[in-house]
Amino acid sequence: MDGNGRWAHGKGLERLNGHERGAEAVRDCVKGCRELGVEYLTLYAFSTENWKRPKAEVMGLMKLLERFISKELPELNAQGVRLQTIGRTSDLPESTRAALSGAIESTAANTGLTLVLALSYSSRVEIVDAVQSLAREVQAGRLNPAAIDEAAIARHLYTRDYPDPELLIRTSGEMRLSNFLLWQLSYTEFYITDTLWPDFRKDDLYEAVRAFGKRQRRFGGI
Ligand code: IPE
Ligand code: MG
Repeated sequence: MDGNGRWAHGKGLERLNGHERGAEAVRDCVKGCRELGVEYLTLYAFSTENWKRPKAEVMGLMKLLERFISKELPELNAQGVRLQTIGRTSDLPESTRAALSGAIESTAANTGLTLVLALSYSSRVEIVDAVQSLAREVQAGRLNPAAIDEAAIARHLYTRDYPDPELLIRTSGEMRLSNFLLWQLSYTEFYITDTLWPDFRKDDLYEAVRAFGKRQRRFGGI
């Protein structure tokens, strides 16, 4: 979800106004995913690198997330959305963690769409965590190094319970991964749009899914 700051700047507004409008894009895209029957939607909401931003913006984002959760929770439940997170959420402020864990618990039995928020997320840190956890199993004598295969690594990633993404949508025209799901995106189709995230609506999502439908996925075959 990129381009909130540029959207605000273009309108002579504060960056936080861009993030607020971005929350509307989230609401609309969750609806669009339900309509399309998408089973998993992962939103890159806050990276470990985003902690470098000014404190006021970071706190503004955390408060926005808290407000979004408390406001949207009934609608998420009504739509059958199950909320989950990936990332080092222990880094988040106490009030944000409380809001998240309440919503995760409240939506745990929903089966319509799994909405995964990547928060304080870094793909490299995720891989480091996975390697440490594998090493501990080896050290404890529970895992033979020769048995470490792709599936074993995938089982130690934060995404162990989710399938690899089929489609990656990046807004605001940026052509980079920015430390997002490096392992999981190996065979994912990319869709990059110049649309800034606050302007992204479910029509744009449909357009991306239509484009995805025309791709030929060969997974290295012919
Ligand atoms: C994405 O918008 C939102 C977050 C990273 C939280 P940006 O804040 O990165 O917007 P730009 O890139 O400055 O336009
Ligand atoms: Mg950005």
